[in-house]
Amino acid sequence: MNNPYEDAKLLGEYLLFHYGTDGDIMPWDFGPTSGLQFPRRTVEELVDVSKLSKDSCALDIGCAVGGSSFELSKICQRTLGIDYSKSFIDAANNLKDQRSMPYRFLVEGRLYADGLAQIDIGPGEVEFKVGDACDLPNDLGSFDLVHAANLICRLPNPMLFLDRLPELVKEGGQLLLATPFTWLEEFTPSDHWLGSGDSEQKLQELLSPHFILDERKDLPFVIREHRRKFQFSVSLGTRWLRVH
Ligand SMILES: C[S@@+](CC[C@H](N)C(=O)[O-])C[C@H]1O[C@@H](n2cnc3c(N)ncnc32)[C@H](O)[C@@H]1O
Repeated sequence: MNNPYEDAKLLGEYLLFHYGTDGDIMPWDFGPTSGLQFPRRTVEELVDVSKLSKDSCALDIGCAVGGSSFELSKICQRTLGIDYSKSFIDAANNLKDQRSMPYRFLVEGRLYADGLAQIDIGPGEVEFKVGDACDLPNDLGSFDLVHAANLICRLPNPMLFLDRLPELVKEGGQLLLATPFTWLEEFTPSDHWLGSGDSEQKLQELLSPHFILDERKDLPFVIREHRRKFQFSVSLGTRWLRVH
């Protein structure tokens, strides 16, 4: 059974990651500030806006508390955010309705600080739903843009998601992936890890029958655990165009 205190802590961590001020996420001047604003950067740095039409629709899969989905709403007419976690989707829906949401994030031990998540929503519609990237509904349709940030190495079987991508991305559409390839048995049994130390090459092999690589960049990100502990990772950000 999930521990509600752990769940609340994780929700606070993600609300801070998506909506926190730079100073709250990284209160140390000497810290890795290149890792701030990740949910905004995966959209700004990976989407080719020149290839989007006015009525584009987007899917943000593994959207967590919705930071990138709200960014996508600035450039797409419709955005659907899907995540497996009901508490994350509830928070994203709450933010969509209220435009702001108080939350607490860990300082140290049992001491928490108050934060206020506020969204800067675009003109496009946004909808959030609970769903499983490995078992998406057959009638989900197809999208001009599919965004999946830091998702594939959190899935029990990434192939089930990767195999659906040609169907989910319209021909000429964009697939935006970001992944640090942090393979962990607790999320993905090792026989389902992509490649054995060559995940990027494996990803290229898997996607190449339907997609061409159009952009590749390193996207650092920093997640605060508490005042004195942070996760610094570098996601591989890629943009793929669906050609066949
Ligand atoms: C590392 S977080 C990344 C969240 C967000 N995209 C970001 O960049 O901050 C992974 C997210 O994937 C979600 N997730 C894990 N397994 C999933 C699944 N099978 N289907 C959909 N979402 C899943 C988690 O709930 C979590 O929100």
